[in-house]
Amino acid sequence: MCESVWPVIVLLSHLFSSAISLPVSIYTPPPPLPSQIWPPSSSSAPSPSLSVLQPTPPSLSPCLLMISPSSLVVRFGDPVKANCSLSQMDFYLLGWENLQRAPQPTQGNFLVWSEDRVTEWSIKPMCYALSDHGGPCQLHLPVTVYKPPEKVSISFVNHTGPMFEGHQYTLQCTVWDVAPVKNLIVRFFRGETELVQLKSINNTGQKPATETFTLDISPSKDDNGAQYWCEAKLDLGPGGPESPPMAKSENITATLLWTSHCSSRAVVLILLFIQMKIWL
Ligand SMILES: *[C@@H]1O[C@H](CO)[C@@H](O)[C@H](O)[C@H]1NC(C)=O
Ligand SMILES: *[C@@H]1O[C@H](CO)[C@@H](O)[C@H](O)[C@H]1NC(C)=O
Ligand SMILES: *[C@@H]1O[C@H](CO)[C@@H](O)[C@H](O)[C@H]1NC(C)=O
Ligand SMILES: *[C@@H]1O[C@H](CO)[C@@H](O)[C@H](O)[C@H]1NC(C)=O
Repeated sequence: MCESVWPVIVLLSHLFSSAISLPVSIYTPPPPLPSQIWPPSSSSAPSPSLSVLQPTPPSLSPCLLMISPSSLVVRFGDPVKANCSLSQMDFYLLGWENLQRAPQPTQGNFLVWSEDRVTEWSIKPMCYALSDHGGPCQLHLPVTVYKPPEKVSISFVNHTGPMFEGHQYTLQCTVWDVAPVKNLIVRFFRGETELVQLKSINNTGQKPATETFTLDISPSKDDNGAQYWCEAKLDLGPGGPESPPMAKSENITATLLWTSHCSSRAVVLILLFIQMKIWL
């Protein structure tokens, strides 16, 4: 019984929803005459329609814009180029926005934005197309501007000299002058062994920054003479350079004061004795 009711409900709700969407299509202005879309001469000034774009309304019209490539990864100072094109011909103005040196809008079906040198850290280019009846439509081009790390260094936080077995120490890896920090992956090593891989949690800035990563270690006696180092790599995704920009720190050598050697044990006992003398 119940099963036979469901198709009816589905059908009714479908009819109801299409009845709601009906007035929307009534209120959209009727398409203009073909002569209005493509004026015979280019004398008709498109500037009034440009002001429509200023509040950046959501694009409602079907819009067949395409940008090639669809995203860009570029090193600061390198050239950049992207081609915005449309496959639907009833648009009459195609342009780029949000750029310091945007090309002149065109009535053609593609427009290339290119620069010899990228000199901004935060670029959010947008390609738009305007038409009489469809309103504006737009497409963003995601751009990542990067800078390889200037230098990577490693040190112990608040500690110099030999270490004690079982105590906790903090290793600190500093990556200098890198952008964007959110794409940075830092790995700590002991000799050839990778210890941990870290990312910056909340630095979303696009300008170069110096970022510090830490790792707590508590050395055992086997760590005497161990070499610690860290490596910073920019993970820029598939659009990035073939070999990701990276830099390594120098080695820092761990020297343990308390080892299992008898001589060291003697030293320890002497130290303990001196300590007890002080207490007494
Ligand atoms: C831009 O893209 C359009 C459409 O794919 C193509 O016809 C045109 O040749 C391209 N222009 C450049 C300069 O790459
Ligand atoms: C390192 O030492 C400085 C000054 O002695 C102190 O302000 C800081 O909190 C210490 N850092 C850590 C991680 O212990
Ligand atoms: C650091 O030490 C490792 C071995 O532990 C060695 O392979 C590497 O070349 C050293 N790096 C530098 C910069 O000396
Ligand atoms: C990142 O988070 C830490 C603590 O979670 C906070 O102390 C620090 O100020 C934050 N940094 C930024 C740039 O928001």
